[in-house]
Amino acid sequence: MSGEVFPVPASVAEAAYVDDAAYRAMYQRSVEDPDGFWGEHGKRLDWIKPYTKVKDTRYAPDVSIKWFEDGTLNVSANCIDRHLATRGDKTAIIFEGDDPNDSRHITYRELHAEVCRFANVLKAHGVKKGDRVTIYLPMIPEAAYAMLACTRVGAIHSIVFAGFSPDSLAGRIEDCASKIVLTADEGLRGGRKVALKANVDAALAKIGGVETVVVVKRTGGAIAMTEGRDVWYHEEAAKVPADCPPEEMNAEDPLFILYTSGSTGKPKGVLHTTGGYLVYASMTHQYVFDYHDGDVYWCTADVGWVTGHSYIVYGPLANGATTLMFEGVPTWPDAGRFWQVVDKHKVNIFYTAPTAIRSLMGAGNDHVTKTSRASLRILGSVGEPINPEAWLWYHNVVGQQRCPIVDTWWQTETGGILITPLPGATALKPGSATRPFFGVQPAVVDAEGKFLEGATEGNLVITDSWPGQMRTIYGDHERFEQTYFSTYKGLYFTGDGCRRDEDGYYWITGRVDDVINVSGHRMGTAEVESALVAHPKVSEAAVVGYPHDIKGQGIYCYVTLMAGEEPTEALKKELKDWVRREIGPIATPDLIQFAPGLPKTRSGKIMRRILRKIAENEFGSLGDTSTLADPAVVTDLIDNRQNLK
Ligand code: WTA
Repeated sequence: MSGEVFPVPASVAEAAYVDDAAYRAMYQRSVEDPDGFWGEHGKRLDWIKPYTKVKDTRYAPDVSIKWFEDGTLNVSANCIDRHLATRGDKTAIIFEGDDPNDSRHITYRELHAEVCRFANVLKAHGVKKGDRVTIYLPMIPEAAYAMLACTRVGAIHSIVFAGFSPDSLAGRIEDCASKIVLTADEGLRGGRKVALKANVDAALAKIGGVETVVVVKRTGGAIAMTEGRDVWYHEEAAKVPADCPPEEMNAEDPLFILYTSGSTGKPKGVLHTTGGYLVYASMTHQYVFDYHDGDVYWCTADVGWVTGHSYIVYGPLANGATTLMFEGVPTWPDAGRFWQVVDKHKVNIFYTAPTAIRSLMGAGNDHVTKTSRASLRILGSVGEPINPEAWLWYHNVVGQQRCPIVDTWWQTETGGILITPLPGATALKPGSATRPFFGVQPAVVDAEGKFLEGATEGNLVITDSWPGQMRTIYGDHERFEQTYFSTYKGLYFTGDGCRRDEDGYYWITGRVDDVINVSGHRMGTAEVESALVAHPKVSEAAVVGYPHDIKGQGIYCYVTLMAGEEPTEALKKELKDWVRREIGPIATPDLIQFAPGLPKTRSGKIMRRILRKIAENEFGSLGDTSTLADPAVVTDLIDNRQNLK
């Protein structure tokens, strides 16, 4: 591992908001006097009624999290209206289509009109404050319009990533009881069409309750429209005015729900609220990326994930930035696409995921070095640990050693970045997310919850609240407490393991629960297992992650077949396709091993620790196997593992 430390480049230090001393001072104040600190920084937003209370949070007993609780505001007004006087003609969104010849600039004034129109369409279809609106849209500007339109009328959006299957979509619509779904005829990615409206139709065939489907025309491909339920967005938009007053919302009114995978059961509806979330998203966007007025900023995530929520839409727009929305994929038409887009739009700040970096690294340096990239100043990484090799390539080849890399650690639950370098303040170590953002108090605990001091390794917890923290699981506060605050009473448990070094830098080592991270996407092993056992030929399944060169982790499935079923290669393919259809392409198993038996304790509990080791090809370190009901099962699995690629 590279032990090198990369100091703050002088060119970055000159213009940066904070240097190391300022970081330390601000951090100190933020944790010693959170009310004073956040009371001040909360003013970065426009409040309709200013707050008088700042922090009111409790992790035990009875978890309750409130920030700015007596203030009122509107998110879309903060992201749009307040910029109109000074930045009306400035580009808010640069849309870069899948096709390299398709791009467009949307000014703040145009954004205002589009969002108002969309809000009026929602209203015309009966959407009111507090209603849930499911959004199943590709990466087109309408996705941002739809989000902001929801916030304008006070509706709660729930975005479902457009790569999820009809089943996954149906489950998410049903859980929050949305009566309306916003979608497109088809999506476009890497030159291929994605059947979104057809997926919505399939989802709605399974569940009731949806009264309206609004369809944005993207490709013009043939789709079915259900009379009385489905309407075209462009037809509805033509009927309504381009002005819509923003609804006055309380700081603690729900802003959005975003479903994410956990170690057990179905995906959870993570709920974020209005005031604290926006303060935190906009503040982190400014400081973490050292965003300055005039910068062109590009985050390559999808709005279907939290990164897209906080760092494509809400953070940047709250700051009056120019944010780039990219519809396509990194490798189409070729592996140089990212860098071509950087040059085309003179991108200054570029934020992507390690999995993309690793796959582009594999495609060779020519794709990168052919381009200029002179506009780049800051690079970012998110979603999974970045291995030092990928970090160094990103730094040396993409950033020409000029651009600091902010390796940002956070989660859907945290709303915004919690552990990260600040470009002007933090010397970098490849692979380390470095230090906590203002107001964030990480700690490392052992399995029993004992605080570990100094340089150490253990489980990562956060000891006190920050404004962007999720408030509950939609409809299930008890599960919220159970999931995040019961492992270590009074502490927020992240589910991640980490190391802290002698300089106090944090190194995230990955999930310590039954969640795996595949290409930066969170996947519950339980979800894949339940998809597998839903197949008629499968009697039992256990799923674990294993190291994968490009994806970070791959999906490894141990499958026990029903008596009499033949373990063939054709069946493996059938099962992979099955999971893909049940959940979505991101859940496609990488390896399937047929297992006549699974290692279990005498009480019947599957010993996943052993399965993980076998999947990792670490047969020598299986640990304690004395509690196994049938040790022969393990020998058998090891023999079979060696026959798999
Ligand atoms: C992982 C994505 C290492 C981590 C914003 C976390 C990371 C999970 C990093 C959350 C990073 C995210 N270094 N690991 N910089 N960023 N993770 O909810 O395991 O999709 O718990 O949020 O991704 O994934 P989520």
